[in-house]
Amino acid sequence: MSIVKNKVAIVSGAAQGIGRSIAETLAEAGAKVLAFDVQPQIEEIFADNASITTLVADVSQRADVEPVIDAALKLGDLDILINNAGRWKQTPVDSPWEQALEDWDTIMDTNLKGVLMLSRAAVPHLQASGGGDIINLSTYYVLPAKSAGTNPPGTDLYNASKWALNGFTDAWAKYLQPHNIRVNGLCMGATDTPMLRGLFPNGEYPPGLKETVMPPSAIAQQLLALLEDGRSGENVGAWVGEPVVIPEPAAAHKRITG
Ligand SMILES: NC(=O)c1ccc[n+]([C@@H]2O[C@H](COP(=O)([O-])OP(=O)(O)OC[C@H]3O[C@@H](n4cnc5c(N)ncnc54)[C@H](O)[C@@H]3O)[C@@H](O)[C@H]2O)c1
Repeated sequence: MSIVKNKVAIVSGAAQGIGRSIAETLAEAGAKVLAFDVQPQIEEIFADNASITTLVADVSQRADVEPVIDAALKLGDLDILINNAGRWKQTPVDSPWEQALEDWDTIMDTNLKGVLMLSRAAVPHLQASGGGDIINLSTYYVLPAKSAGTNPPGTDLYNASKWALNGFTDAWAKYLQPHNIRVNGLCMGATDTPMLRGLFPNGEYPPGLKETVMPPSAIAQQLLALLEDGRSGENVGAWVGEPVVIPEPAAAHKRITG
């Protein structure tokens, strides 16, 4: 029996891509899932799935955070929070100031402030249920030992948001350990989602990537394996062309940056 059977899980950004696959995978494994997204179509996407309750909410908005937690608590005590919602945008370093500051808000308000707000709201309920898991969706860019040559131009704000996420993952894992709450990052390479397809003209992958891009279901299965594994305070990577698995636990000084 899966470790998530009958557990209550929140998944942010679940209308498409990796978040959608995570919500479906957790539900298939027996969890009761609260899946939310800023896109209203999340309601019809999961309309026929009795294990997935949906909500339209924007994780970057303070007023939307408690309603997400309240909706999850209607399913039972809270056990799992998946911080998946993320924003990507090309951010040229020579763009106009006004554009740069707008891009900062767009990316950081979801990728960082949204994670901060939803996690802070969830933690007291994870504590009350005797412990649980938080998993932050990051990127392989933050694992430089195995990702030499990444961080291409125009990715500065997105990558800054994900590097900063390392700080949350690491500090929260230590702070929450006495409360039996595990905190990890999942750091994948190119995964076949609307976000990734949006990087290429007409959504067409270039040769090479087309053959190797990872399916979201592989990441969702890796997340399930990470929940079953029980470790905390680690960034777990997934690389195109390699088996998507949970590696041996990293040495303490390499747990967050590879
Ligand atoms: N696809 C990849 O190759 C890849 C690689 C590394 C990391 N990631 C990370 O994985 C996560 C999922 O990415 P994806 O590729 O599935 O992206 P995606 O853009 O296809 O899906 C993201 C979902 O999040 C939702 N969302 C965005 N902002 C939100 C907000 N403020 N509140 C609620 N929902 C919001 C979107 O509406 C969308 O449904 C992101 O954190 C992303 O940074 C993706």
